[in-house]
Amino acid sequence: EKNGFDHFMLKEIHEQPEAIKDTYRGRLRINDGIIKMAGIEDNLERILNANRIIIVACGTSWHAGLVAEYIFEDLVRIPVEVEYASEFRYRNPIITSKDVVIAISQSGETADTLAAIKLAKQNGAFVFGVCNVVGSTIARESHAGAYTHAGPEIGVASTKAFTTQITVLTLIALKLAQSKGAISKTEFHNYLAEMEAIPTKVEESLKIDGHIQEIASVFKDVPNFLYLGRGYNFPVALEGALKLKEISYIHAEGYPAAEMKHGPIALIDEQMPVVVIATKKGHYEKVVSNIQEIKSRKGKIIGIVTEGDTEVKSMADYVIEVPETIEGLTPLLTTIPLQLLSYHIAVMRGCNVDQPRNLAKSVTVE
Ligand code: F6R
Repeated sequence: EKNGFDHFMLKEIHEQPEAIKDTYRGRLRINDGIIKMAGIEDNLERILNANRIIIVACGTSWHAGLVAEYIFEDLVRIPVEVEYASEFRYRNPIITSKDVVIAISQSGETADTLAAIKLAKQNGAFVFGVCNVVGSTIARESHAGAYTHAGPEIGVASTKAFTTQITVLTLIALKLAQSKGAISKTEFHNYLAEMEAIPTKVEESLKIDGHIQEIASVFKDVPNFLYLGRGYNFPVALEGALKLKEISYIHAEGYPAAEMKHGPIALIDEQMPVVVIATKKGHYEKVVSNIQEIKSRKGKIIGIVTEGDTEVKSMADYVIEVPETIEGLTPLLTTIPLQLLSYHIAVMRGCNVDQPRNLAKSVTVE
């Protein structure tokens, strides 16, 4: 059932090209120049007239929500707030009938996320669910929704659920942007074409597994890791750190690269590996100067760069290349090597990758 892979997590990492295709199949219609999503079409006015979109989720799904915040605000120009479901529900939040709440949940059973949407509904908000498990409670409790269609995710650490959540949220943003007239025909088409090419590019990113294993073997015994990214790749840094923590038990933190100098830079010495997402486009020069700051304090740099990069390569201790795409879609590619890096480090440390200690696949307690 692991299909020849040693662990479900590795199998699920490798399933991503197909899973992303399954997510956009039937929805992304390049030839017609449209995106087909009944859950959005049937509620178009309600969603486009929203004062704001509130995204509620936990864990990895919350990270997907953060990526969506960048995409939605960029493309749709509706204000977005991303909330931890557990914080949102307990702080007497201001919710009105002009709000649209998007709940993101792989399992569709997370107790806090479920409670958050119930609260939102009581206050008149429109609730849109993005779930993976068909017929799950959150899917049923939502007014409308879109499934990720990633297939069953068995590994406790979420992988293909994350990339397919980003995929479906990007499709939603594009559809709304087109309906609102907020995106040019050329940009829309460009996005569709690039989205269609993502599975092939994910496949390419999976091929450099051997190189990532080498890097994993260098750093497998360190006590701490830092992950940095900016813009669309800031949430990817958070997700990279979460993945490492949960399966290898190495302490890791994700930060927006520019926040480093406001505190975390104090941690940097020759023992500290720093994973920096430094793809072309998307604040590249700024990230390069963040890398210089780390270098001058002797931190070890693992750069996630665009294929053919030379500038970061000349500074970093290690680089991992990902294919080029438009900025808004880079999280779908930069996530892949970070999943593999955590996986290999965890395996080398003898950890139970598929069932990390203290964790359950779906958190149905509050
Ligand atoms: C991380 C992980 C958890 C879940 C979180 C939300 O790898 O698996 O952080 O992302 O518990 O779960 P869902 O998406 O099922 O609501």
